[in-house]
Amino acid sequence: MKKHLLNRLYVRYAALSHAKIALAALALLSASFVSAAPAPIVITGADMRPSTSLNGNWASIVDPYFSGLFSFHHEEKKNGWFLNRKAQPGDAFPTEYDYAKAPTLKVPSDWNTQRDSLFFYEGPVWYERYFTYQPKDHTRTYLHIGAANYRSWFWVNGQKVCEHEGGYTSFNCDVTAAVHAGANFVVAAVDNTRHEDGVPTLETDWWNYGGLTRAVSLIQVSEAFIDQYDVHLSRTESNTIEGWVHVEGVQNGAKVEVAIPELKAKATAEADTTGRFVFHLKVEGLERWSPDSPKLYKVQLRAGQDAIEDQIGFRTVETRGTQILLNGKPVFLRGVSVHAEAPYRTGRANTDKDAETLLGWAKEMGCNFVRLAHYPHDETMLRAADRMGVLVWSENPVYWALQFDNPKVLAKAEQQLDEEIGTSRNHAAIILWSMANETPNTEPRTRFITTLASRARTLDSTRLITAALLVRAEGHTKIVDDALGKALDVVGVNEYIGWYEQQPETADVTEWRIDYQKPLIVSEFGGDAKAGLHGKESDRWTEEYQASIYRHQFGMLNKIPQLRGMSPWVLMDFRSPNRPLAGIQDEFNRKGLISDQGQKKQAYFILQKAYQEKSVGRAE
Ligand code: GCU
Repeated sequence: MKKHLLNRLYVRYAALSHAKIALAALALLSASFVSAAPAPIVITGADMRPSTSLNGNWASIVDPYFSGLFSFHHEEKKNGWFLNRKAQPGDAFPTEYDYAKAPTLKVPSDWNTQRDSLFFYEGPVWYERYFTYQPKDHTRTYLHIGAANYRSWFWVNGQKVCEHEGGYTSFNCDVTAAVHAGANFVVAAVDNTRHEDGVPTLETDWWNYGGLTRAVSLIQVSEAFIDQYDVHLSRTESNTIEGWVHVEGVQNGAKVEVAIPELKAKATAEADTTGRFVFHLKVEGLERWSPDSPKLYKVQLRAGQDAIEDQIGFRTVETRGTQILLNGKPVFLRGVSVHAEAPYRTGRANTDKDAETLLGWAKEMGCNFVRLAHYPHDETMLRAADRMGVLVWSENPVYWALQFDNPKVLAKAEQQLDEEIGTSRNHAAIILWSMANETPNTEPRTRFITTLASRARTLDSTRLITAALLVRAEGHTKIVDDALGKALDVVGVNEYIGWYEQQPETADVTEWRIDYQKPLIVSEFGGDAKAGLHGKESDRWTEEYQASIYRHQFGMLNKIPQLRGMSPWVLMDFRSPNRPLAGIQDEFNRKGLISDQGQKKQAYFILQKAYQEKSVGRAE
């Protein structure tokens, strides 16, 4: 194949002197190497805007060698498969791809659970579909991607519109210049190859689901539009809703308005030259959002021709010594950890139904809190948490051993944090931004995550910063003295007494030394059990063994004075490539309290009883 390309190259340049050819090739190389496209942007509340859905069946081509984008010398191609070229009679070269003849993949979804041949697949896949569109004058059009795991490139009508790295946050590509009236086509290349300098990096204990895993749509906005906004209840001024609105492409003197009709509250003012407009709204009769009464208010934002309506709850969250205060009152977070694994069908969770099933099980168990692990979850999950009154720990995928001394990796983690907070900052349910999970206690790591934590505080001063730390032990004493604790408002710790270490009953004799006078959340504990497998309490993998772990934990946890929350690992069994034990795990992490097919294990009812009786944990 490649030989013909080379000939074509030489034929075209035969007339030029060798030096010129070399120069031209170099220019071509550099141009083809980094064919730049504008960086995607973050849009707050994108899911609340009218849009043209691009969900459905897309043509797909699996391309393990990425020959659709890179030539045999690994140069980015100018005539790659993004051109969606149709072979023409008399072509001097073969066109070796045709989306019209290609099988389809559903979007949004991972590809791994759609085709057996893609179950273990890690590499590039091409997606293509047509859409009819009518751009209006004085508007912009954005291609909204709910998530694409892990690296992704997008073209509209053959024109590159953006590329992105990071599999769990939404982003928006400006396609205004690429779309036209009538029939259009979009091509995406998505590559879930894991990278050492990735975020996350090579090792994870969850399935590396690839693809366009969350909703894809087109959003049409006015030339000047509200790209980000923050609306929250003030911690310091009573009955005051405050925040800011940013207008992208602001015209001088543009008026911005924030209104909450049900509270007869409205603020209007001019945006400053950067397009930012800060507001304070005095309100009366506000019903605060809480798990017991998850009250949401319609909030209307308007800037010039642009308008958006959101559903927002108002609550405050802060710490006071070792207490967590929700709306000024001490709270205990009765939680469970949750992966975005779809119940029953498995694969990446991405529907309202997935969210309602998972959060429904958590609420039924008596939870008022979930730890969404280990990456930002879908807006459908966060909207459901707002509606259902479930407090949320949201986490940036800084997981295990990243290259903490690599500034490029820090930049990637910062970008993902910006996208997470920029997209989801108005969810009342989210009370904690988690910076990381189980990272090694080294100086570069502490510096890296401390930098992230201060960035998160700058982006959002209304929530608490946490992380899930590893703990060390001396004999039967667990010691929480990881240096990273200094940078956190709330300290999270993972422990696996009875599973990866010792026996379930060891918890009875375990003491805790915590070197931080801060609220503590035990963000993980638990053990694997195959649903329906029964035996003696001492038989691993049985429901009885898992139940025994839970029973012995409660006594120990109640002895920890500053314990203010817990999120046992994990609500539901989830796929993991690290779990091959045949007949028991079968590529599932079986620490779920519920199986992936909805079977509740004994431990589910033990935790439910403790939560409903409020016999584990104290708010103060
Ligand atoms: C770790 C990790 C989880 C993992 C769990 C387990 O602590 O944070 O991602 O799945 O333990 O081993 O089951």
